[in-house]
Amino acid sequence: MAPDDRRDRIGRLLDLLRADDTDKLESTRPFGPREFTDPGTAEAERELVFGRVPSIVAHSSELARPGDFLTLTMPRNRVIVVRQRDGGVKAFVNACRHRGARLEERPSGRCRLFSCPYHRWSYNTDGSLRTVTYDHTFGDIDRDASGLVELPAEERHGFVWLVDSAAATIDVAGWLGPEMDAALAGYGLDALLCYRAEGFDEPVNWKLMQDAFLDGYHIKFAHPNTAGKIIHTNVLAVEDYGRHARFLSPRKSIDRFLEQDPGDADLGRHVTESHYLGPNSTLLRQPDHFQLLTFRPHPTDPARSRMEMRVLVPTVEDSRFDETEWEKRWNKNWQILLDVLHAEDFPLLRASQDALASADAGRMLLGRNEVINQIFHRELRRLTAAGER
Ligand code: FES
Ligand SMILES: [Fe+2]
Repeated sequence: MAPDDRRDRIGRLLDLLRADDTDKLESTRPFGPREFTDPGTAEAERELVFGRVPSIVAHSSELARPGDFLTLTMPRNRVIVVRQRDGGVKAFVNACRHRGARLEERPSGRCRLFSCPYHRWSYNTDGSLRTVTYDHTFGDIDRDASGLVELPAEERHGFVWLVDSAAATIDVAGWLGPEMDAALAGYGLDALLCYRAEGFDEPVNWKLMQDAFLDGYHIKFAHPNTAGKIIHTNVLAVEDYGRHARFLSPRKSIDRFLEQDPGDADLGRHVTESHYLGPNSTLLRQPDHFQLLTFRPHPTDPARSRMEMRVLVPTVEDSRFDETEWEKRWNKNWQILLDVLHAEDFPLLRASQDALASADAGRMLLGRNEVINQIFHRELRRLTAAGER
């Protein structure tokens, strides 16, 4: 369907912009606001989505050296992800096998072993049980069966992916499918550095959050003085890969090519290329860096979620800047992103969650033009329906 070559795709985007049009699906899709508040739906998503398919939990550069770890709250499990001595990564449930204390409290760090704060049992970074305190008094214990519980994790395309279930297996390439796997492989994401990562706990359902960051329809209305000045509203050229999607949106700087043939001009600087990476991430490819946005349900409350934002940039050595300029540039970029989130997106989304929790909020509708949102909800329905029997 959609041409695969980037130049052709940008050409198609220009045609849409000239025609004041956007890619569209065959029909609108009605939905009920309870999708964002219902505990049964939230449970199905935990079990049948996050418990079964891989999602991104970190960039590889956040775990650069052996012993580097980070902790996170997944919908089903509290988790430690840790770089191994052999260069691989492993993920474990962040709970001691003695009596369940949270083993690691810090959000990230480096260590040679994990030591439990309660009775000081310790574990190697490969999860194996290392010491049992006062073991001459403790009694029988099967040490091999008392290591940390491992969760399936894999590193691919510069990201660490996790399936949030000890009973699952992981196959990131299989989950991505040939088109998205090839697209990500072409970006060299593993050579980039995660300049900064931050999480935001919001009183908003994760799908409402994810929806807002797949939405080309709201730009100039919710962001009139920021993104709305830079990016066109309601113009997307979409490639639907099934579980995932790639979509281009035009920056206003492309307007000079509306009347003239761009010839050999590099139009890549005049578009943002975004990716919906199912089930819960948006990856934005900007002209000189990438931004990864990840959305995770709260473990119990459908009306809460955590968003994580990461900015992935070329290292100082790979850039044309010296260290001071590099830091200044990316810090400024990060602050602008933060300001827009806190001043514009989050207030709107908190109010949406509150409003649609109204008892009589009524049926709602996704438009034909809201292609990526429709793909996101279509794929969630597919995953949750598949597990019902
Ligand atoms: S709960 Fe961890 S050592 Fe007792
Ligand atoms: Fe927004």
